[in-house]
Amino acid sequence: MKKLTTNEIRKMWLDFFKQKKHYFLEPVSLIPVEDPSLLWINSGVATLKPYFDGRKTPPAPRLTNSQKAIRTNDIENVGVTARHHTMFEMLGNFSIGDYFKKEAISFAWELLTSKEWFDIPVEKLYITVFDEDVEAYEHWINVIGIKEDHIFRLSRDTNFWDVGQGPCGPNTEIFFDRGEKWDKENIGPRLLSDDIENDRYIEIWNIVFSQFNNDGFDNYSELPRKNIDTGAGLERIASIFQETPTNFETDIFWPTIEEIQKLCSSKFKYSIENYFNENKHQTKVNTAFKVIADHVRATSFAIADGVFPGNKDRGYIIRRLIRRALMKGMELGINGPFLNKLVIQVIESMKEFYPYLLEKQNLIEITILNEEEKFLKTLSKGYEALNKMIETDQKVTGKNALLLFESYGYPIEQTIEIAEDRNVKVEIDEFNLLLEQAKQQARGARKDLKAWDKQNEIFTKINVKSEFTGWEETEHKDAKIVYIFTDEEILTQAVDSEVYVILDKTPFYAEKGGQAADTGYLTNSQTRAEVIDTQQGPNHQHIHKIQLEGSIKIGDTIDAIVNKEKRTYTMKNHSGTHLIHSALREILGETVMQSGSYNDEHGLRMDFTYNNSISREELNKAEDLVNKKIKEEIEREVHFCSMQDAVNKYGALAFFTEKYDEVVRVVKFGDFSSELCGGTHVDNTVQIEDFMITGLESKGSGVYRIKCLTSKKAITEYLNLEFNKLNLIISEIENKYLSVKTILKDEDLESLFLKAKNESISKESIIRLKLIIDELKNCQKSFDKRFDEIITAKKLEKFKNFEPKLNSQNLLEINERVDGLNIKDMKTLVDEFKNKFNELIIILTSENTEGNFVVVGVSESLQESYPAIKIFKELPVSPKGGGNASLAQGKY
Ligand code: ALA
Repeated sequence: MKKLTTNEIRKMWLDFFKQKKHYFLEPVSLIPVEDPSLLWINSGVATLKPYFDGRKTPPAPRLTNSQKAIRTNDIENVGVTARHHTMFEMLGNFSIGDYFKKEAISFAWELLTSKEWFDIPVEKLYITVFDEDVEAYEHWINVIGIKEDHIFRLSRDTNFWDVGQGPCGPNTEIFFDRGEKWDKENIGPRLLSDDIENDRYIEIWNIVFSQFNNDGFDNYSELPRKNIDTGAGLERIASIFQETPTNFETDIFWPTIEEIQKLCSSKFKYSIENYFNENKHQTKVNTAFKVIADHVRATSFAIADGVFPGNKDRGYIIRRLIRRALMKGMELGINGPFLNKLVIQVIESMKEFYPYLLEKQNLIEITILNEEEKFLKTLSKGYEALNKMIETDQKVTGKNALLLFESYGYPIEQTIEIAEDRNVKVEIDEFNLLLEQAKQQARGARKDLKAWDKQNEIFTKINVKSEFTGWEETEHKDAKIVYIFTDEEILTQAVDSEVYVILDKTPFYAEKGGQAADTGYLTNSQTRAEVIDTQQGPNHQHIHKIQLEGSIKIGDTIDAIVNKEKRTYTMKNHSGTHLIHSALREILGETVMQSGSYNDEHGLRMDFTYNNSISREELNKAEDLVNKKIKEEIEREVHFCSMQDAVNKYGALAFFTEKYDEVVRVVKFGDFSSELCGGTHVDNTVQIEDFMITGLESKGSGVYRIKCLTSKKAITEYLNLEFNKLNLIISEIENKYLSVKTILKDEDLESLFLKAKNESISKESIIRLKLIIDELKNCQKSFDKRFDEIITAKKLEKFKNFEPKLNSQNLLEINERVDGLNIKDMKTLVDEFKNKFNELIIILTSENTEGNFVVVGVSESLQESYPAIKIFKELPVSPKGGGNASLAQGKY
């Protein structure tokens, strides 16, 4: 067998298919584009669905790729088995209506067996086919010359590829026989024919004869063209060429495992030998190494594609991977954050095919480190809580599991794993129920289009055509009503109710890409309907949610009129978002990457990644730069082009989330900003009028949220409001001062009040007023302190003239009421009398708003014979409290 590195294998695969006239597709982001049925890209073909079902034309009928993919249905198996991964790479060749079965099989055979390519001995390869697929079977036997004992005809269970919505069909699989060494019981080919889990026959290639489309509800329709979809796991092919027991000892993971070995306690070493002579403890250790190596790789790739740890969807999965890997690190005696230190190794191993990882190194490391620190903090608290729960209940109740999830960030899977270690159960059904309830509560009772379950059958079935005309116009006369529906049913007409409608042409922008939905109204002679919301349908239709007064039916024509004012201000804010994005990249550097945004008629906010702190000066610079660009009156350009042209010709920012070969829309403002965007924008930057940053907050994990305003109107309104708000704060401080000024004057305060009065309404003034308020608060603190001292002195003044009298024991004693004084003042007074007289007993009693208090003080010379605490205890009012020989105090 040839010895090949992973990079060599990938290259050989792609070169082979390029030579066979396949168009090479660059790997695309792990985040699916416009595919609500998928959380992650989970196979090579997942990125190509529109080509397979005929919605779009591929760049060429023959395609090849090596695509990163994530599957999360069996994360628990990762590290336990030899070949499961969270992220893996799938090599593929595809035919869209070009070649079919015979050529696909012949290509596979040539690449696998010919000397020039993989050169795998023929007798090592085994084949399975779908038992009803005579054509494939005969091609293998008659044309390829496979021996009959090397091919098995199996059932739909193993040989029909179908994963819910999307292309599917019968398949043929190719296996590599690693020999008896990996088949201890010497079972042989029966492992294959009986579909027994094993490490001897490794499936290396799945060729799907893709001829049906599953609509997601197991309704199959013939595809318009017959296609080929194939997938070969790069990691497992590497393990074959590198002759390693599992995928984890290949050049993909091994360097990371060696790195973990350096970080963990020297007690723990990864043992390859354990594969053959298994020891339970060592298996657990090996598993920990494998889990960490797998998870840090998947996490690094996901973060590079713009997924950040969070509490839902993809963010939640990343969070879970980081946490699970950290727990495994603890099993290996690693305390503290360490995953972030492995990122560099992942990048080293993967950078040849994924060079962009290098640019993202900093971002990945910081994001992982932040998440590690956060988790470690709550972990110890949660672990204690979990232990207590197990001790008390001998199980984890659903309620407690939810508490662990919500308050300590324990993913339910983590709780289950720990509970399993202790042999106790988790009430999972109860947990799921409570979690659902909690989510419902958070969502609120209101059901609207946005909260729609996109898998709702009515929604997914919408296939009428609708054209968006709103880039050019805000009114469209005589649009035709082509679809009417509610959450429950499809209608042909509607009267006086809230329904959804679709028009053949509409100027209404549907919420997407961070731009708010248009509102407005639809009207004709029978009807006037408010458009409350516009959202996107499954095939890009714009769906209007309307409050209908009057009646409509399918086929009616109606005028569609967008609320122009709202649209105009939204456009200013959307263009403003593009400009501030470019400005921040220019001032803070290219690690700034927009990770989310929202703009409507009121303002804009944008989330972006950045790993350092941001100063006021930097923000001012960014704001100034945007205003400079507004003044430069830059014309907006729009280009519809290929992704390649968007990036190369128009310099569009592309963060690997879009696809490379579709027609994309580029929105460009001179050389300053160029982005892929479907939104509506101003024609010229001057229409933005004005720009102001009103807030910046850190959202943790290297993500910031910036808030801004555009337009003179919005900024003036904001400045007015802010000016009044700040002045109110200042006048509160001033009024307080004026009411006591006769007792104590303060020059600093007065000059600050004066300074504030000189300010007028402007951006600069607002900044200065905020600084003045900070200074005022400081001055006020020291003023209050001095003022308190004066007041106290005044209060004590009237009690200072008490004269001692001889008591029954012939000792000098002051025993007086000091009503109104608090304990602190009483003690001050006692000290003063002690200083004034050498041999004295002082008993002060005060009634104030908080109760009755007594303080007893005794001069040093008397303390031995008449300790204060003794006198205190013997007082007729029997006070509660304590003290010593010198001073005692309490309440009665
Ligand atoms: N799409 C097929 C798979 O993922 C090739 O196995």
